Amino acid sequence: MTAVAIDGPAGAGKSSVARKTAEKLGFLYVDTGALYRAIGLYMLQNGVDPGDADTVIPLLKKITVSLKYCGGEQRVFLCGNDVSDKIRTDDVSLAASRVSAIPEVRSFLLSLQRDIAKENNVLMDGRDIGTVVLPDAQVKVFLTASTEERAKRRYFQLLHSGIKADYDEVLEDLKQRDYNDTHRAIAPLKPAPDAVVMDTTGQTLEQSVELLIRLIQEKTSANIT
Ligand code: DC
Repeated sequence: MTAVAIDGPAGAGKSSVARKTAEKLGFLYVDTGALYRAIGLYMLQNGVDPGDADTVIPLLKKITVSLKYCGGEQRVFLCGNDVSDKIRTDDVSLAASRVSAIPEVRSFLLSLQRDIAKENNVLMDGRDIGTVVLPDAQVKVFLTASTEERAKRRYFQLLHSGIKADYDEVLEDLKQRDYNDTHRAIAPLKPAPDAVVMDTTGQTLEQSVELLIRLIQEKTSANIT
């Protein structure tokens, strides 16, 4: 099996670039952020502070999270319910970032992620895929872009989905998430020593996809269909 690990900060374009590249390569695209988001959603739905480890940890016993693929598209299930659409709000983004700092939450999700990579050729995106989840991945990429560019992309994405947003608020949320993700004690966001850093500032989606495919081809014998 071939594994491509894609890590990087929020809004760097990981999911768009990874999804498109996976489609071209015939690999499974695994968005691991959805798993943390599902747990964050569970805490919000149950009135629990997602940063309160003492309350969150015992609740993990009650939670089942799973991923299913319909026509290549990933759906995430929380306790048997498809929550793929509900996990995309800004509240859930921040809740995911908070629960993801709890070591027990990370180990709870580890085998699920590794099992998918055992059975499929994957392009897996997250924050610790190259460093922790799949340290033996054949290709490791750290995809990034300037904070302002990432905030701009997120802002326009919200506008396109009909959500009225304030650019300064989007920028502040992103900075807060970057801070949480890079400063947590366990599996902080950082490039693996053997990762290739790709800065997508000023690049179109197509340009980033092309660069990534070239890199994967160089490092593996993947056939492009
Ligand atoms: O990729 P995303 O924005 O959907 O991720 C939501 C949050 O989950 C993010 O703030 C950090 C966390 N996360 C993580 O800690 N490890 C991963 N592999 C994926 C996401």
